[in-house]
Amino acid sequence: MTTPVPLLPGTELLALSGVGKTYGTVRALEDVSLTLRTGEISCVLGDNGAGKSTLIKIIAGLHRHDEGTFTVGGEEVTFDSPRQALDRGIATVYQDLAVVPLMPVWRNFFLGSEQGHKRWGGLRIDADGMRATTRSALADMGIDLPDVDRPIGTLSGGQRQCVAIARAVHFGAKVLVLDEPTAALGVKQSGVVLKYVTAARDAGLGVVLITHNPHHAYLVGDHFTLLKRGRTAGSHPRAEIGLEQLTTEMAGGSDLAELSHELGRPSTTPDPASDHSAEERPQP
Ligand SMILES: Nc1ncnc2c1ncn2[C@@H]1O[C@H](COP(=O)(O)OP(=O)(O)OP(=O)(O)O)[C@@H](O)[C@H]1O
Ligand SMILES: [Mg+2]
Repeated sequence: MTTPVPLLPGTELLALSGVGKTYGTVRALEDVSLTLRTGEISCVLGDNGAGKSTLIKIIAGLHRHDEGTFTVGGEEVTFDSPRQALDRGIATVYQDLAVVPLMPVWRNFFLGSEQGHKRWGGLRIDADGMRATTRSALADMGIDLPDVDRPIGTLSGGQRQCVAIARAVHFGAKVLVLDEPTAALGVKQSGVVLKYVTAARDAGLGVVLITHNPHHAYLVGDHFTLLKRGRTAGSHPRAEIGLEQLTTEMAGGSDLAELSHELGRPSTTPDPASDHSAEERPQP
């Protein structure tokens, strides 16, 4: 395990400035800026195709930006691989978590970073040591999972997200990037995952949280960036925006009004939070 270097709260971890990315003829991102500091959760919200995944792929070293600057710890970088991002302390947890379902929790926890002793040119793994470390790392994060020998595939989606977060913290990440960690989860499990997201922040990490859900974002976020068709449609520190405004901006207040007009159901106050739209949809 790398010993994390303690950074003062509020230290800049990474900054994107005027970043753009084009895939062939598709302009996926244009002039996007974002700064992340230690002890901060920065939420990135946006609809399908808004450019959220493109943004995190740039941060994670999967894709290169072709406009603007990206700095990590004040130094400009262009990553060629996820390994380079990881070496700079940037850990990314993808929605479809790269786990081996049949392997026990502890094996997955140490995947690619196995501990052991060099023997005959190979590695004799220290299973007991890794089990114990996994157990204590999970306990440190307040994660209640006594049986680390269970195949990780038998855990709930929320528990798997939590293990991935604990893993990033344990291996010394400074930045944790989470792509829609609550998208496939119910209310209760989402709450648990968000609790560990704040635990990571409290441990001094900076977190980039991608989500469709303004309610989830607002429960934990310190800063909110809204993306719309690849461009920044809003960037607000928590003190400057309430949940209601965030929800309206996210749902595109004016777009909704226009849509309800087109559907012939003008409403005085569109309520993007309610989920009655399906029932109210006009029958063909
Ligand atoms: N590898 C690629 N090649 C070509 N176009 C791409 C590629 N990846 C993304 N795009 C396009 O870039 C735009 C932004 O996509 P992106 O996946 O970043 O959106 P998103 O906000 O993550 O959406 P979602 O919520 O659906 O995951 C879209 O128009 C998408 O079709
Ligand atoms: Mg995406």
